[in-house]
Amino acid sequence: MDVTSSETRHQLCRIGVLISGRGSNMLALADAVRDGRILKAEIAIVISDQSGAAGLHHAAERGLETLAIERRQRAREEHEREIIAALGARGVDLVCLAGYMRLLSPLFIEAYRGRVLNIHPSLLPAFPGLDAQQQALHYGAKVSGCTVHFVDEMLDGGPVITQRVVPVHDDDTEETLSARILIEEHQAYPEAVERVVRGDYKIFGRRVIYLYER
Ligand code: GAR
Repeated sequence: MDVTSSETRHQLCRIGVLISGRGSNMLALADAVRDGRILKAEIAIVISDQSGAAGLHHAAERGLETLAIERRQRAREEHEREIIAALGARGVDLVCLAGYMRLLSPLFIEAYRGRVLNIHPSLLPAFPGLDAQQQALHYGAKVSGCTVHFVDEMLDGGPVITQRVVPVHDDDTEETLSARILIEEHQAYPEAVERVVRGDYKIFGRRVIYLYER
């Protein structure tokens, strides 16, 4: 799968980041682009469905273009059409969900098929949906972690790009476990995006196979 169009293949991969809140994964991606850990890419825009999202402020401080497209009281598809138009106007090749807390409709998935990534704070398919860290604690899991995956129509369901394991400690609370997982998220997401931008993988069924092991 090639996330760049023929016009942009020799140029930079333009990344659009969707957030809803604090935006620490968005900043991890922005740092990785800035530091050259994700080559041949740039953050084209950061969009939030919440105008009060702290991440919008952090992104603007970095000099990134930001846009709030409020979801409140709007039908999902109408809301998404506006997001798709904003991404399209900026020539976005790859969409990274970074704490974007609204399920994407088939309309969005079709518009960016194979070009939407998400990070989720559990080892999928365990604990999809909301409050994944709390789910892991309630279940009594001894390990949890994070997953970066392609997004398809299923909730937290597309092919897995990378996962990182985090132990669950006996005295963990949702806050301590979330904080330990978040450290790994900030490593895993840039690594996964770098691989996708380089395109050195193939997808067989659900399996993302790297062509060159590191
Ligand atoms: C992260 O832990 C991310 O994995 C999670 O929301 C948090 C966002 O934090 N995403 C989901 O649960 C998606 N299902 P951030 O705004 O600081 O990146």
